[in-house]
Amino acid sequence: MRRERRTVRSRETVGPYTLLRVERGGLEPGVPGQFFMLEAPGRLLPRPMSLCLAPRGELAFLIDPIGPGTQALCSLEPGDELHLLGPLGNGFSLAVERPLLVAGGIGIAPLPYLSERLGGAPALLGFRSEWHAEATALVPNAEIVIDPVLVTEALKDRLQPVPDVLGCGPEPMLGAVRELVPSAQLAWEAPMACGYGACYGCAVEIGGEWKRLCVEGPVLSGTDGSGVRPLTRPEQAAA
Ligand SMILES: Cc1cc2nc3c(=O)[nH]c(=O)nc-3n(C[C@H](O)[C@H](O)[C@H](O)COP(=O)(O)OP(=O)(O)OC[C@H]3O[C@@H](n4cnc5c(N)ncnc54)[C@H](O)[C@@H]3O)c2cc1C
Ligand code: FES
Repeated sequence: MRRERRTVRSRETVGPYTLLRVERGGLEPGVPGQFFMLEAPGRLLPRPMSLCLAPRGELAFLIDPIGPGTQALCSLEPGDELHLLGPLGNGFSLAVERPLLVAGGIGIAPLPYLSERLGGAPALLGFRSEWHAEATALVPNAEIVIDPVLVTEALKDRLQPVPDVLGCGPEPMLGAVRELVPSAQLAWEAPMACGYGACYGCAVEIGGEWKRLCVEGPVLSGTDGSGVRPLTRPEQAAA
């Protein structure tokens, strides 16, 4: 884990999302599913972002501009500088025999790097609209479904034999995937202020105990993730 001030190389629009490419410098990309804390201009706290792509000399992040921090990140221009801290947390285990990548919405963010590291494994992606589904271009070998069809409906047709599911998406989707494939490795989310275990802002209930998601996760597998329940959901808007 390192903290470095790096320069934005480019900003690309991918449907409603922004792909922010940053010079890598001495930062390691880490394992798919790990994340970085990105300084959000004008905000007190950095924002956690999964690594999306790791081409030579670069780290790229796919960002959904849902609030002030993510909007500030999506407004960065080539040449602007920001602090990055990472890689952080526990990523996906790549020791899988029949990988199937499953994501909903911005949960697609860690999949391009994951897919690359798994040799273009098949993927199942769910989006709310064709516009959101433009992000599919970042993941090879992907089947997509659009609302009202849910990604978990499509997953039901892929369970014989049961695949090694590696997933990311909104909490209800992750819960439904876990019902279908209890062994799935899933990337969970909680509001994070520090990203490395110091603030306890990301405490969630895991298997009946309160733990820091930034340390134990964000990727949890099998029964580890069976009890994930956020402790608090504080508004970060002023931070
Ligand atoms: C490990 C990890 C990796 C992530 N990777 C990505 C990524 O690759 N791309 C991406 O676009 N987003 C990612 N996120 C989510 C992103 O960090 C939040 O959307 C962002 O911090 C929101 O900041 P904001 O200031 O824009 O909005 P805020 O005003 O802080 O939040 C807007 C709304 O979202 C809620 N919220 C904020 N953060 C979270 C959260 N982490 N979980 C659940 N609800 C939340 C707030 O309570 C509020 O209701 C990731 C989160 C985590 C924990
Ligand atoms: S974000 Fe600070 S302890 Fe997890």
